[in-house]
Amino acid sequence: MEVLPCKSRADAVALTAKLIGARLEATPDMVLGLATGRTMEEVYDHLATGGARFDRCTTFNLDEYVGLPPEDPQSYASYMADHLFDRVDIDSARTHLPDGMATDLGQAARDYEARIAAAGGIDLQLLGIGAAGHIGFNEPLSAFRSRTRDKILTPTTRDQNAGMFGGDAARVPKRALTMGVGTILDSRELILLACGAAKAQVIARAVEGPLTSRVSASAIQLHPACKVILDDEAAAALEDIAYYRFVCANEEKWNAYRSHL
Ligand code: F6R
Repeated sequence: MEVLPCKSRADAVALTAKLIGARLEATPDMVLGLATGRTMEEVYDHLATGGARFDRCTTFNLDEYVGLPPEDPQSYASYMADHLFDRVDIDSARTHLPDGMATDLGQAARDYEARIAAAGGIDLQLLGIGAAGHIGFNEPLSAFRSRTRDKILTPTTRDQNAGMFGGDAARVPKRALTMGVGTILDSRELILLACGAAKAQVIARAVEGPLTSRVSASAIQLHPACKVILDDEAAAALEDIAYYRFVCANEEKWNAYRSHL
């Protein structure tokens, strides 16, 4: 794992967008795994305004609420259209989200896994982290080998996401279809972005804490190519932060991105 502590939230977002942009440029037909949430809004804004080309890439989103049709403004399908897909040159036929409206959610989950496999797997998966320690909607006790399935959201997650539902946690759907931790770990590369003081403790548990399904994000420790990009606030509780900064300062490959670190 590489921890990249950035000077500010703006720098963390810019670095994330630049790394994604560089991958898209190097491999335009890549398979990109996408996340939603407040943190990613800024990343997508960077990519859209920066003119990143998406015309040949294929995307798979981590998750979708159960029971919200794609046209519902609170669905993740709408979120992706608003924040990215309608703003870039992506081919909508190559964008994929789990089908939260399926009558058979188990079948929809298996179909989603099959679509990822048919695309050749995910080259780069973008991740946020929830207050409950989730990646995707893998709430506590999600098996590290879990695959796409429906999960019941924790009250913590429904509170966290209430802002997108008029501030009313009771309006946040109770379930979501999410890639499993195992699905995420199968991606060839992971980039997890976290910003803000509210994420500091959970980042410390995910990055430095013991591997535990109570914090599904701790599973990233098992991935051989995982970058964790943090702003100053989200990095604040890391015990070995001085070492992570030392590594960044001495890795030549980060020279091009030095202004953000
Ligand atoms: C959403 C998702 C979640 C979010 C996480 C952080 O697709 O997968 O894991 O990334 O809840 O959300 P924000 O950025 O709103 O704090």
